[in-house]
Amino acid sequence: MITLKLEILRRKNPEDVPHWESYDYQTEDETANVAVALTELNQQIEHPVRWECSCLQKKCGACAMVIQNRPRLACDTPLKEFIKAGTVRIEPLRKFPVIADLITDRSILFENLKTMQIWFAEDAKTNGSQTAYEASRCLQCGCCLEICPNFWTGGTFSGISAMIPTARLLTALPESQKKELFKTYKKHIYEGCGKSLACRNVCPAGIEIDKLLVNSNAVAVWKRKPKHEK
Ligand code: SF4
Ligand code: SF4
Ligand code: FES
Repeated sequence: MITLKLEILRRKNPEDVPHWESYDYQTEDETANVAVALTELNQQIEHPVRWECSCLQKKCGACAMVIQNRPRLACDTPLKEFIKAGTVRIEPLRKFPVIADLITDRSILFENLKTMQIWFAEDAKTNGSQTAYEASRCLQCGCCLEICPNFWTGGTFSGISAMIPTARLLTALPESQKKELFKTYKKHIYEGCGKSLACRNVCPAGIEIDKLLVNSNAVAVWKRKPKHEK
């Protein structure tokens, strides 16, 4: 049996002052995670907690939130981690505007891709490289932006969530079209990233961010061959 206090930072509307609410929660399911707890809690309370989910299999990134001070996926955070403490604090991601309760507006992730013009043109060809595989695992969940000391909305740095698809595009574009991408990479990724790699420690997909970053820097900034590409 798992018995926990769920402390949830709540607000009904974006302009409301957020406040903590505490709920007693119990389950006999030793494998239950935060997503299960929120689902069951919402069946028991008068004003359900608003949060986002889709796949419930750590594949879509929708359920990213701050759990015990760390950006994580609710569907990939087992409750048993918090049994000893007896309580778990759940908040919305802090780097993004809050819509209600645990729902945030993460459209900046896609706006940054638009600013950098990161999309596949007709003559870009996908390939079976290690970079392409690693990059395809990104959920665009925003956990890396949440933890990054150098990312803020409105800044020039587009964050690791933009570096990942850029790394993929760097392997796919014909040489003749890479010049513009090199420029935008330098401005929006290379010059903003402090390379502390805190983002790697929180990435729920376990993407080898360090290798992608080193490779992309080598290609886009130093015009060298990538080191780790197989
Ligand atoms: S790199 Fe990892 S943390 Fe960042 S958006 Fe992709 S999956 Fe999420
Ligand atoms: S390496 Fe550090 S500065 Fe660069 S994106 Fe990751 S957390 Fe941010
Ligand atoms: S609901 Fe899709 S990752 Fe959690």
